[in-house]
Amino acid sequence: MPDDVGDQRQLVWPERETIILGHDMDPKAMEPYGAALSAYFEGDANAEVIVRRDDGEESKLPISYFFRQPSAFTPIENAAIDYCTGHVLDVGAGTGVHTLALQEKGFQVTAIDVNSAAVQIMTRRGVKDVHRADLFKCQYEPVDTILMMGHGIGMVETIEGLDRFLIHARGLLSEEGQILLDSLDVRTTGDPKNLAYHESNRRAGRYIGEIRVQFEYQGKHGPFCGWLHVDGGTLKEHAAKAGWKCDVVLEENTGNYLARLTKERGRHT
Ligand SMILES: C[S@@+](CC[C@H](N)C(=O)[O-])C[C@H]1O[C@@H](n2cnc3c(N)ncnc32)[C@H](O)[C@@H]1O
Repeated sequence: MPDDVGDQRQLVWPERETIILGHDMDPKAMEPYGAALSAYFEGDANAEVIVRRDDGEESKLPISYFFRQPSAFTPIENAAIDYCTGHVLDVGAGTGVHTLALQEKGFQVTAIDVNSAAVQIMTRRGVKDVHRADLFKCQYEPVDTILMMGHGIGMVETIEGLDRFLIHARGLLSEEGQILLDSLDVRTTGDPKNLAYHESNRRAGRYIGEIRVQFEYQGKHGPFCGWLHVDGGTLKEHAAKAGWKCDVVLEENTGNYLARLTKERGRHT
């Protein structure tokens, strides 16, 4: 059991959204994904969303993935759950897969997601404390764990966005708090199209894991948005600059890994 059951601290929500830190992902980008989540939740077990990269590469993502049960969690997800302490803020919580697992274990969990369909689904699935919110537009009383799973750190879009997030996150966490996030080292791919994409990023002076994607569901697509896959070494380097200690606590040969970030003592930046 977590040691803070009964903690009465509240999150602080702004009365109106204030754009901070220059983050500007268009929330419309996630709308086709939200529509697909709703379709699955209402009974379309075959719902899938098309993820289209800006080089034209497409993949179909079965929506059932976003409703996975704890029994289907990967070792990385299980380890993340085990590392959680205190009041957890599940950022980009989706349908609440990790929030619900943590709630079940007795944790105080607050779930946020920018997508209204995801928030409605979480409410209907029994998430107790859920808000429609953009991570970059809200401020909170500090929590003990920020959890970002399912490659959720991708929402920072770029390395520059990662740097802004690493500064913003300091204010969201208690002094002893931690960020738990999973991401992907894209260099593990052997796919020639992916390798060509990385190379074109390099040539344009961008980090190789900065991808641009568009979601489509039933012929309707949103605008392109950025999604960042960051390797552990690059994450550590940028975390250190922002005053974080970053440990890769679990790594798979697929390039997926779990990182734990804690505040370096004495740093206030
Ligand atoms: C890849 S999904 C991961 C969902 C869930 N964590 C999981 O593991 O199944 C990323 C989620 O982040 C949400 N999201 C994207 N940008 C966001 C933002 N700026 N603030 C909050 N949520 C955001 C999306 O709506 C989506 O539900």
